[in-house]
Amino acid sequence: MDKKAELKIDGETYYLPVVEGTEQERGLDISKLRAESGCITLDIGYKNTGSTKSDITFINGEEGILRYRGYSIEELCEKSNFIEVAYLLIYGELPTKEQYDEFENDIRRHTIIHEDLKHYYDAYPQRAHPMGVLASMVSSLSLYYPESLDPNPPEDQIDRHIRRLIAKITTIAAQSYKNSMGHPMMYPDNKLNYAENFLHMMFALPTENYEVNPTLARALDMLLILHADHEQNCSASTVRMVGSSQANIYATISAGISALWGPLHGGANQAVIEMLEKIKEDGGDSKKWIEKAKDKDDPFRLMGFGHRVYKNFDPRAKIIKSECDKVLAELNVNEPILEIAKELEEHALSDDYFAEKKLYPNVDFYSGIMYKAMGIPTEMFTVLFAIGRLPGWIAQWKEMREGKEPINRPRQIYTGYNERSYNPIDKRS
Ligand code: ACO
Repeated sequence: MDKKAELKIDGETYYLPVVEGTEQERGLDISKLRAESGCITLDIGYKNTGSTKSDITFINGEEGILRYRGYSIEELCEKSNFIEVAYLLIYGELPTKEQYDEFENDIRRHTIIHEDLKHYYDAYPQRAHPMGVLASMVSSLSLYYPESLDPNPPEDQIDRHIRRLIAKITTIAAQSYKNSMGHPMMYPDNKLNYAENFLHMMFALPTENYEVNPTLARALDMLLILHADHEQNCSASTVRMVGSSQANIYATISAGISALWGPLHGGANQAVIEMLEKIKEDGGDSKKWIEKAKDKDDPFRLMGFGHRVYKNFDPRAKIIKSECDKVLAELNVNEPILEIAKELEEHALSDDYFAEKKLYPNVDFYSGIMYKAMGIPTEMFTVLFAIGRLPGWIAQWKEMREGKEPINRPRQIYTGYNERSYNPIDKRS
């Protein structure tokens, strides 16, 4: 028998269907509540609200589990690669050899951006933050592919937009870095794989030979896998919300990029490094900064700590931490802020404040250190997060579209003035 929850309002009973997921997560379906009772639910910040049903990613925050389409993040990091994971997220299953080759080849072929788009970079200030450039450039792609404005395009056209986006985002991102350096654009080299090609576009110069370091490329590929999706987070929900208005895919993904930029979301990886550098300059006393983070009168928060969903550990942080030492050793990099990070983590984890509030290092705590060791400039960290998250955003957008979800439009409890009369300006005190 279908389970129902009972809700009593002013003596009247309402029945709310209990919806159960494949991992036994339960939710109360309140979609008819307003029509039947006149009440809405109030949940500022959506801390307790399911916005959709989804087949893509499963997270168990208490046990530190993250799975894409049923596959554990640990297994995917060990055995798969980013392009295969992108296919899995977007199309729901691991590809056959033929499907993989076709997908990978399509992405390789689309890496180049329209020559006109190159001129856009001339108009950005040299110090423009690459996340702002990325959001604008991705939105601008819609101007070059106007067929994307059709809200009901044929499926093969959607596939083309998807592959184009995954291919071009690395070119756009790398060019924003080259532009900030005043260096010439490096065209993609389509002999290289996805991660290698990005590193080539970032670091090669027409005047020098550049060989992509395979350790670096593999580490980058793993970081991209780790970031590829994270169910209904701030940017994924933004993508579903903007997409629900039938805005085109490029504008929709651009909105996701903007949501990711904030320091409470993807921007935290940049903020972590800035924080660790500050602690180093201040003498490296991590305990002092932990006290600052605990002080309610001090706005400082320990960046890279805490998570809305993970309340035990973030499995992504665990993987990165264990890879970090290996990669740094292989690259022969001695990174003093790694020691500060480890000390900070150790002190925080043995502190009652962090234990009581269940605050643990999140994915951003160690990813910045890896990026730094790889020679990626700090302002590009969140851009790398965006490149990694793109398949997840696309999968969320596709699921929302195929599920024919209605336009997202939350309600509110109005707390402003009741109706009052307009006073002409000369009568106001
Ligand atoms: N340092 C110190 N105290 C913290 C921290 C922190 N990093 N994070 C949370 N707290 C405290 C809060 O002050 C609050 O205390 P209170 O109950 O006494 O008021 C309590 O822990 C709960 O915090 P909330 O902000 O209510 O938790 P929420 O789920 O809304 O926020 C968030 C989660 C935004 C990640 C938060 O922990 C934070 O700001 N962390 C630092 C930024 C960060 O690392 N963001 C990246 C997240 S991962 C990602 O998006 C990829």
